[in-house]
Amino acid sequence: MANVGNKRSVILGVVGLLLVAFGAVLVFLVPVIMKQQVEKNVRIDPSSGFAYEMWRDLPVPFYMSMYIFEVMNPKEVLLGEKPRLEERGPYVYRERKQKVNITFHDNSTVSFVETRTFQFDPEKSAGREEDYLVVPNILLMVSAQMSKDLSFAVKILLNAAYVMYDQKAFMNRTVKEILWGYSDPFLDLINTLLPGKLPFKGKFGLFADFNNSNTGIFTVNTGVEDISKVQMVDTWNGLTEVV
Ligand SMILES: *[C@@H]1O[C@H](CO)[C@@H](O)[C@H](O)[C@H]1NC(C)=O
Ligand SMILES: *[C@@H]1O[C@H](CO)[C@@H](O)[C@H](O)[C@H]1NC(C)=O
Ligand SMILES: *[C@@H]1O[C@H](CO)[C@@H](O)[C@H](O)[C@H]1NC(C)=O
Ligand SMILES: *[C@@H]1O[C@H](CO)[C@@H](O)[C@H](O)[C@H]1NC(C)=O
Repeated sequence: MANVGNKRSVILGVVGLLLVAFGAVLVFLVPVIMKQQVEKNVRIDPSSGFAYEMWRDLPVPFYMSMYIFEVMNPKEVLLGEKPRLEERGPYVYRERKQKVNITFHDNSTVSFVETRTFQFDPEKSAGREEDYLVVPNILLMVSAQMSKDLSFAVKILLNAAYVMYDQKAFMNRTVKEILWGYSDPFLDLINTLLPGKLPFKGKFGLFADFNNSNTGIFTVNTGVEDISKVQMVDTWNGLTEVV
């Protein structure tokens, strides 16, 4: 009986030791494995497959929800009444960011351009892009603001242009036009009269030129040689510093 008891305690002891050893191995090995896995998935390396695809074209959608306030009493506002506003929307856009023109360099850096595109999401939206809304004519407001420090002659010209181009204090435009821009001969005139003052060229709108735009050329560290440097920006549009 004593013999069996001894045997049992020896076995238990051995099992215990093995567990301790196994635990110790795990304690030391798990971080190593984890680190390797993390590094493998964080590094920008085309051979990493899935992780690289994620980096290149993030499948997680970004949503941009826009609310627009419609002016319900434009005529009365012009006569001095307080504006009555009603909220419209959300008009929801799905943003997709995609890296293109990806070039790997010898010094473990990679250059790319990130483009963004926006797609209207009718299911998540309350309303359609084609909805007409009456909103303040921002172009008119901006040009009036800009003309404050201009010469008398230019002011006269602008005032004539308001009449000529039928610029009213409020405009009736579609959601798509308000957000993504509309062309207006008045905009061309302002750009001629006040060159370089407006950051809008062909179209005027909150997000004109936003769709299919890109953020410039980034060069970032791939982390292949030194994981601590991964994603560190080396240059942006060839600049090492942004001032
Ligand atoms: C990608 O590179 C091509 C060829 O150099 C160029 O024509 C294109 O404009 C680039 N794309 C972007 C988004 O910069
Ligand atoms: C790596 O190489 C690229 C392309 O030759 C260059 O633009 C970049 O400045 C280099 N970066 C470093 C840290 O040497
Ligand atoms: C953005 O551009 C894409 C591709 O050209 C187009 O399909 C999409 O409708 C545009 N989005 C908006 C909000 O205009
Ligand atoms: C805005 O214009 C559309 C299309 O011309 C028209 O159907 C709608 O009644 C107008 N809305 C207002 C408030 O004038």
